[in-house]
Amino acid sequence: MKYNNLLIETANNMVQKGKGILAADESNPTCGKRFDSIGVESSFENRNEYRDMLFSAEGIEKYISGVIMFDETFRQTTTCDQKINFPEYLSSKGIIPGIKVDTGAKDLAGFKNEKITEGLDGLRERLVEYFNLGARFAKWRAVINIDDTLPSLGAIEANTHALARYAALCQENGIVPIVEPEVLMDGSHDINRCYEVSCQTLDILFDQLSRLNVMLEGIVLKPNMIISGLSCSNQASIDEVSNLTVKCFKEHVPDKVAGIAFLSGGQSSDIATEHLNAMNKNHSDLKWNLSFSYGRALQHNALNAWSGKNREDGQKKLMERAKNNSLATMGKF
Ligand code: 13P
Repeated sequence: MKYNNLLIETANNMVQKGKGILAADESNPTCGKRFDSIGVESSFENRNEYRDMLFSAEGIEKYISGVIMFDETFRQTTTCDQKINFPEYLSSKGIIPGIKVDTGAKDLAGFKNEKITEGLDGLRERLVEYFNLGARFAKWRAVINIDDTLPSLGAIEANTHALARYAALCQENGIVPIVEPEVLMDGSHDINRCYEVSCQTLDILFDQLSRLNVMLEGIVLKPNMIISGLSCSNQASIDEVSNLTVKCFKEHVPDKVAGIAFLSGGQSSDIATEHLNAMNKNHSDLKWNLSFSYGRALQHNALNAWSGKNREDGQKKLMERAKNNSLATMGKF
């Protein structure tokens, strides 16, 4: 394939030891919810200023290999005198620009309480444009709900099929697909149920990726960790989470995959770091680097410290989190 070497190089850079990905691709409605929590209006200018605060934190490139952006941000510029497009600005710091290309999870027709992620129509043309604007990786998030009877096989198949079609289109156009099948942590299920559903989802996902000729050396997997449901009365320990997560991936993720970058999924910032650290500390025999692609767990403290005006405080908090997670990718936190 035309872009094989580029894809492999980009994917390896994204998951290099000591670095991870900053997920700053909140859609405008999600960004609105985050800004509501600090009493800041979610205007075009404020979103631009917030992203500028994050991306221009001095030295962030020591810990961050790539940034995922939303379409609006991808077309915005730095807010200093020199207005530089964000993709170009990040590239100049050695950070790979990434773009969220799914258009969100909608109700899956025929299935109660299950979602299907949309965005395939016109995707090839959008990817060509994003590549020309500097994107070298993309993200598509599928959500899988757990309850007493869910997920259905139909929902897992539909979502993983869409992920595979997205991934193939990305690779055709020189863009590394972040493949994100998120098994949600909402619910009262225990860790074993999360393990069972995550293993099943990964099996079906890799079957779909293989059927659609996706090159595994040129993808980054962005999964959930194997954890207890948020409202489960028996919360698994750090070691249980780390051991069961590693077991799940060893048994259900092919060695060829370039790397794994976890989502934080609603875990607290501290716990998300501790889980990643324990995995890397206690398991040295892994085929892939285990890294992070956190949104909330990297930004939460920075957003609160910034509160619409305190740039330096926000940047300091972001740097603390990024550094701790960088150490966690080496099991040295
Ligand atoms: P969280 O780390 O907040 O789950 O966000 C990561 C992400 O990109 C979800 O798609």
